[in-house]
Amino acid sequence: MDDLALYKIAEEARKNAYAPFSEFHVGAALLASDGTVYTGVNVENSSYGATICAERTAFVKAISEGAREFDSIAISAGEVPSLPCGICRQFMYEFAPQIRIITGPLREDEPGGGLQVRRLTELLPEGFVLER
Ligand code: THU
Repeated sequence: MDDLALYKIAEEARKNAYAPFSEFHVGAALLASDGTVYTGVNVENSSYGATICAERTAFVKAISEGAREFDSIAISAGEVPSLPCGICRQFMYEFAPQIRIITGPLREDEPGGGLQVRRLTELLPEGFVLER
C-alpha cells in the first residue's frame, strides 16, 4: 500500500476521534509488515490524563491482535501538520524504531499529496530500551 492510500485511511478513521475537550481530532493508520492496516483515533477522558492518542490506540489494537512487525504509520490531524507526541514516540520505539511516519496535511495538487515522511529514529534518536 502506498503512503497516500494509508494516509487516506487515517483521514477516514479520524472521523471517529473522541475529542470533546481539545476538539483536536486525530486519526492514525498503522501498516503491519503483512499488509494489515490497524486504525486508531484519540480517545479523550474527563480525567484528562487518561486520554490516549491515535497512534497508541492503533498500536494497542495491532499488538493485541498479535501483530509485531510494522512498516509505516500515517497520522492525520486534518488541515494542520501533527507529529507524534513524546509518549507515542517512545511507545512506538518499543516495537518499531525504524517505522516510517507519514504526516499531512494532504495537498491534493502536490505530487504524492504533499505528505511528509520521516523515520521514528529521526524523531527519537536514542529511545529507551530496557537492558537487564
Ligand atoms: N493527540 C494525538 O492523538 N496524537 C498526536 O500525535 C498528538 C496529540 C491527541 C491527544 C489529545 O486528545 C489531543 O490530540 C490534543 O492534544
